Amino acid sequence: MAHRWTNDLTRADATPEHVWLNRRQILGAGVAALALGATPARADALEPNSWDEITSYNNFYEFGTDKGDPKKYAGALTTAPWSIEIDGMVDRPGTYSIEDILAQMTIEERIYRFRCVEAWSMVIPWNGFELADLLDMVGVQESAKYVAFETLYRPEEMPGQRTRFIEWPYVEGLRLDEALHPLTIMATGIYGKPMPNQNGAPIRLVVPWKYGFKSIKSIVKITLTDVEPPTSWNRLQPSEYGFYSNVNPKVNHPRWSQATERRIGGGLLSPRIPTLMFNGYEDEVASMYAGMDLTKFY
Ligand code: MTE
Repeated sequence: MAHRWTNDLTRADATPEHVWLNRRQILGAGVAALALGATPARADALEPNSWDEITSYNNFYEFGTDKGDPKKYAGALTTAPWSIEIDGMVDRPGTYSIEDILAQMTIEERIYRFRCVEAWSMVIPWNGFELADLLDMVGVQESAKYVAFETLYRPEEMPGQRTRFIEWPYVEGLRLDEALHPLTIMATGIYGKPMPNQNGAPIRLVVPWKYGFKSIKSIVKITLTDVEPPTSWNRLQPSEYGFYSNVNPKVNHPRWSQATERRIGGGLLSPRIPTLMFNGYEDEVASMYAGMDLTKFY
């Protein structure tokens, strides 16, 4: 694999929430904060949101369309046992339990602090592992060009799936180079704790330089393919949502500007702040799109 972030921390090093919340004091006391993975360009990106903010304001349409619905209804979701079927252009297709992936395959959980942006933004300390490690484990074949992802379909436990608002299951996709990028992670928790159901338990994607909807939750299937896979939002509204969905303040959504965002936790009166190209991860990811017209490939 090309280059990886040097990051030697494991889940055992996860900073407890109260330590995060007291970070300023801790820095004052001269104890170095954990500086993990890539930190984006902007200084405000370092202050993580509280557990409460991260788990009370969610998009997870399988549980309803209101931002409070996932917290209200996702508790009913059974998340253990859980396995992911991995198929398509791989050497070792199969159904892998999360325990198998983490333990037997010695894929190590680490901590990542990423900004997430939609029309709003949060900073979330995830725990998880690089998707590249999982793809290495199953052996990606030369012919593969894309990775397709699928969420659980279980209308008995996911009331939103009883309506046809979205064509279920929720699906997403990445180009193979995006999927192999070290900033693309499979997250299994937040603040060192297991993933709350409303945030995509037990395992979800996080792609920090793309809009939030690319980060598909509660994944049950991953397929390596040579054709661009369908994505739920593109299928629903192709003129508004493309395949790439890279954070780009210069390309507006047809119905609203994407130049600024509202920081969750800043209070209702806090000013909107400018959104950064690739959500602040430009140095790390821009080269993957060199020569592409990003107004066309939005
Ligand atoms: N994944 C599934 N399966 N269903 C969804 O409705 N919503 C997406 C994404 N992943 C969604 C999903 C959207 S629109 C966003 S902004 C993020 O999850 C929100 O993640 P968060 O609630 O953990 O912040």
